[in-house]
Order: sequence, then structure tokens, then C-alpha cells
Amino acid sequence: MLDFPVEWFDEIDSTNAEACRRVQSGQFDDVWIAAQAQSMGRGRLGREWKSPVGNLFATALFRFDGTMSDASKLPFVSALAVADVFDAFTENKIVSLKWPNDVQCDGSKLSGILIEGGLLESGSWVAVGIGINVSEAPEGLGRPTSCLAKLRGDNVVTPQIAFEELRQSFKHRFTEFANDFENTRQAWLQRADALGEQVAVSRGNENIEGVFEGVGKSGEMLLRLLNGELVAITAGDVELIKERTIT
Ligand code: BTN
Repeated sequence: MLDFPVEWFDEIDSTNAEACRRVQSGQFDDVWIAAQAQSMGRGRLGREWKSPVGNLFATALFRFDGTMSDASKLPFVSALAVADVFDAFTENKIVSLKWPNDVQCDGSKLSGILIEGGLLESGSWVAVGIGINVSEAPEGLGRPTSCLAKLRGDNVVTPQIAFEELRQSFKHRFTEFANDFENTRQAWLQRADALGEQVAVSRGNENIEGVFEGVGKSGEMLLRLLNGELVAITAGDVELIKERTIT
């Protein structure tokens, strides 16, 4: 499973855009598309993803037999795979996950994950786009960033080395998920940031505050509101409230 070939590009507009072009052409093979640099890296919510040489940009494009509900669990699979890469190359660093798929260390963002997908005549396709800050920590995301080189204190791990680790960890985490999402959910919770803490969730124009109580069976964030109500959040940006008291 997921042993598909890799195509490396010196530079490309975006590995996710390339995946989408292949799907639109009506004919595509399951593939990892990897690049040394991107000229138009895509981030979430239409943002740019800065993509300098030295970082890793890769998209796993594959046919997916699961339902849309299954596809919505892929952010957890992907985040765990990226966290595994950081674990493999660092010591004594706590790499945590912010719901659903932000990988961070000491509050600094280490990677970005953008998952796109759609229906085919039979089944569906997904493009799991992963950017890993290997030797650079691009700024401008409105929050601190870091990279593998900073965590290690050297520049020994190249994007190619990081990619080979990612390929293996993604395969492992996807297989774990395909057996039972409960394994993924538990593994994710072990690395969860802000569990049991006050968080603010922005959903469109709405801001919701409450205690992050856990992740539900479908991956939804369970938030206990001040009035005691438990709500399930299925999308949104999560911000940890640190020095603010909720009254
Ligand atoms: C985010 O905004 O946090 C998600 C960023 C996702 C970036 C990766 S880099 C590889 C793939 N190709 C893209 O253009 N975007 C994703």
C-alpha cells in the first residue's frame, strides 16, 4: 500500500497544483510529486506557502476508496507522519500537534499540510500536500516558525533525506488508519497540544471559546463551552488562549 513512485522536480509552481492538473487530464497514476522549490506554493485558505530551496515540498496523489468522512481523517494521518519525521531526526524535542494538522515545537510551526480531493467516476482522489521546514523557517504566517535545522543545530538532513523518512512514515500512518481510525486518534491525542486547556476557535466570522476536551470518533474537536455545553467543531482555526482569563 502506498508504494507508489516518486517524481522529483527542481522547481515547480506547486506540487498540489501539479497533482490537480494530472487529475483534470483524466488520466493519472498514483504518485509522490516532490520538489526542491515551488514558485507558487499553496497554503490553506488561499494563502501563499513560501517555498525556498532547502525545504521539502511533496504531494501524495492517489486514488482513495474511502468515504468523504474517511477523507476528513487524513489530516490526522498526515500530521502524525510529519511529526514522526521530526522525531526521527531530533532528540529531546517535543513535537506536538494542534488540531487538526499543525505540527509544532514550542509553539513554532514546522510544517504545512494542504489536502485536496474530489470524486472520480468510480471512487475518489486525494492530494496530500506536505511542506516541511527542513533548513528554513519562512516568516509571515502571523505566528512563530521553526525548522528541522534549528531544532537539530545543524544542516545535515537534506530535503531528500527528510522525504524518504516521510514516505515511510506516511505509509505506516496510513496503514494504521486503514486498519482502524481509533489507532490514529489515540496516537494523535498523545501528541495533542492544548488538551484540557482554554482555546479559541475561529470559524468564519465566529469566535468560540472553551476547553479542548478531546477529539471525537470522526476527528471532530470537542469543545466544552462556558455554559457547560459540549460542541463538536469540524473546521476552523484553533488558537490557544494563554494569558487571557475567560470570564
Ligand atoms: C498551510 O497553509 O499550513 C498548508 C501549506 C501546505 C504547503 C504544501 S507544500 C507541498 C504542497 N504544495 C503546495 O502548493 N502546498 C502544499
